[in-house]
Amino acid sequence: MLPLPLGVGSAPAPRGAPALPSLSSSVLVPPWLAGQHFAAALVCYGLGALGLVVFAPDLARGWFFVPRVIALVHFFTLGWIVLSIFGVLCQFLPVAVGRSLRFLPLAHVSFGAQSLGLALFVAALLATNRSLLLLGALLLTVAFVTFALNLAATLVAVRERSLTYWALAGAAVFLLVTPAYGFVLALGLHDGITDRFATVGHHAHIALLGVVFLVVIGVAHRLLPMFLLSHGVDERAAWLALGSTFAAATILAVPPGAWGGSSAGAIAVPVAGALGGAGVIAFVVQAASFFKHRQRRALDPGMRLAAAGVLGLIVALLLAPFALSRGLSAPRLLTTYFVVLLGSFTLFVAGHYYKIVPFLVWNHRYGPLLGKQRVPKVSELFSERVANVDAALLVSGLAGVAVATALGAELLARVAAIVFAAGAWLQVIVIARIAARKPA
Ligand code: HEM
Repeated sequence: MLPLPLGVGSAPAPRGAPALPSLSSSVLVPPWLAGQHFAAALVCYGLGALGLVVFAPDLARGWFFVPRVIALVHFFTLGWIVLSIFGVLCQFLPVAVGRSLRFLPLAHVSFGAQSLGLALFVAALLATNRSLLLLGALLLTVAFVTFALNLAATLVAVRERSLTYWALAGAAVFLLVTPAYGFVLALGLHDGITDRFATVGHHAHIALLGVVFLVVIGVAHRLLPMFLLSHGVDERAAWLALGSTFAAATILAVPPGAWGGSSAGAIAVPVAGALGGAGVIAFVVQAASFFKHRQRRALDPGMRLAAAGVLGLIVALLLAPFALSRGLSAPRLLTTYFVVLLGSFTLFVAGHYYKIVPFLVWNHRYGPLLGKQRVPKVSELFSERVANVDAALLVSGLAGVAVATALGAELLARVAAIVFAAGAWLQVIVIARIAARKPA
């Protein structure tokens, strides 16, 4: 096992978590597996940011359902967020649950299907090509299903069932449900589906709560205490976040029409909304507790971005009841809600790149040289000042896009999108330079 860079992985696991190997055990997994996911995710991030500049005025018009905006949404969700999640899980399952991904070659299948599927899906939406859209949706389904099965096969062998274990087990379930909805939506996109708003709402929230948020709850529960050095934090809020979120996504997994006219059907969505909201509040409380009890007082740019993402979730939660109850009658409000929600996860993920990639590069290239020659610290692999500027660009750009969307200010939306895109590209360049660093 390789030595740890200073200040990484030295915090004890949160109370109740299994005695897991430290972060350095993730080096047992070849780093190029996560690396290819991260590289593809960064490409989507950069291209998605450019797409945001082009289509930002559409957001300010509240044109949430036009194909090019749907394409943009999936560039960020399936490209940036989901590819990053898959990459993180490939690398950090040994840290998260004490086992590597069960079938590493299968991770290449899901990666290939996800990348090609997304490219076809987006191209088909932009070119209005139904066959291509269905092929893209099919490949995305293959990617989600293979990753879910791989994750499930990994978890089956795990004895210690921590919070992270259950969060990932829940995510594996919704990795199967998400594309089922997505495929039905793809089938209906040209022919029209009954109650499109409800179906898209279910699909988006199952994906965001059941896949993205459950993984965030589970993985953050391991990584935040490590990165912040926060000891002995009570973890009841995280359990509440996990239980409520899982329950919300489960209710939403029942198709809108399946309740018939029953009274259960009438309250299903409000109950799911309340549970999802409780999950977000509990997660924010847990994250705040990690930040509050941190030993490392100064916040680095990565953790600042993660904190901005967590705060963004509160804003999304405040908007949700108004945006979702008014639906298509207030399209700008609906679009603002999704900008804030997806923007929050975008920032949370962006923050973790500033922690994870330098760590991996250090461990792979510099760790073996420790004691033989002078090696830089992890934090010396990039300029913190540049990363702070980057964080400011990303947060202010996204906040600007959200405000401009709410106000219907098309020019402001484009200017703010340019600020965000500058931040995204700066981050792509910084991360690429870190990845290219080699010992002298
Ligand atoms: C984490 C994964 C995903 C997230 C967060 C997500 C999120 C969303 C959101 C927010 C929308 C509404 C976009 C808009 O109207 O502008 C949407 C629509 C759509 N999604 Fe996804 N999605 C995910 C995965 C998928 C997958 C895997 C597929 C295909 C298999 C898919 C297919 C679709 C389709 C076809 C629509 C358009 C529906 C319509 O407007 O009628 N999505 N998704």
